[in-house]
Amino acid sequence: MDFNNVLLNKDDGIALIIINRPKALNALNYETLKELDSVLDIVENDKEIKVLIITGSGEKAFVAGADIAEMSNMTPLEAKKFSLYGQKVFRKIEMLSKPVIAAVNGFALGGGCELSMACDIRIASKNAKFGQPEVGLGIIPGFSGTQRLPRLIGTSKAKELIFTGDMINSDEAYKIGLISKVVELSDLIEEAKKLAKKMMSKSQIAISLAKEAINKGMETDLDTGNTIEAEKFSLCFTTDDQKEGMIAFSEKRAPKFGK
Ligand code: HXC
Repeated sequence: MDFNNVLLNKDDGIALIIINRPKALNALNYETLKELDSVLDIVENDKEIKVLIITGSGEKAFVAGADIAEMSNMTPLEAKKFSLYGQKVFRKIEMLSKPVIAAVNGFALGGGCELSMACDIRIASKNAKFGQPEVGLGIIPGFSGTQRLPRLIGTSKAKELIFTGDMINSDEAYKIGLISKVVELSDLIEEAKKLAKKMMSKSQIAISLAKEAINKGMETDLDTGNTIEAEKFSLCFTTDDQKEGMIAFSEKRAPKFGK
């Protein structure tokens, strides 16, 4: 399938989605969101793909936000639909059965920061900048930024960032726990692939179940979360991977998962 603003590369079990609207610093218009939505279905349904990496094209921007030109004349109803649609697409990333790494290669502002937060793990290049500048445009974050940012970094810092619209660099983003690694821009995709490969050497079913347990558990109280964890833990024992993993351990050899 051909897309105008999104590229999908597949190599060795790793899918790479590149948001590709360099003229607008990869800003998310409706068309790009729709294409992302479709590409995510392709990734979900392709059994050869084990890990997804999302990045932006060029050396300047991951995604500089939702498309301001497109939003500027929206009616309140259109704005609500746009917000709900973006939330739905980003939720699809969060609920994907495979791990998703954001490789943040530059500006991750507004909807771009929100896109990165829907991914499981964020690594960023030294030149990356994060921020939720919406209040400077007379709006608020609308692709779940008001929800995911406080969950990730706590309400005080999240409110500071959202109320001031300040941009922070990668080092600061690392310090506050928004991202898990800072690397040279030239190494970014290789580092993301290294991380992906480490995960691919483990049980994909176990990773998928761990992802569900974490996601669902983070949205509920500890007792309910523990119940979810025990259910997923028990599900592992219905899989060949659990048998293989434990037999391989006792035989002092590397496990061969996914057989
Ligand atoms: C549309 C954008 C854009 C955006 C950049 N461009 N960001 N177009 N939407 N979000 C376009 C510019 O208009 C310009 O086009 C080209 O990309 C290059 O950008 P410049 O501004 O010339 O680059 P620079 O001076 O280097 O500044 C980079 C920047 C700045 C700091 C990232 O572009 C910027 O502040 N962008 C907006 C960031 C932002 O406010 N994001 C949040 C949006 S609200 P031309 O044609 O002039 O060359 C949002 C809400 C999400 O995301 C929820 C919705 C429901």
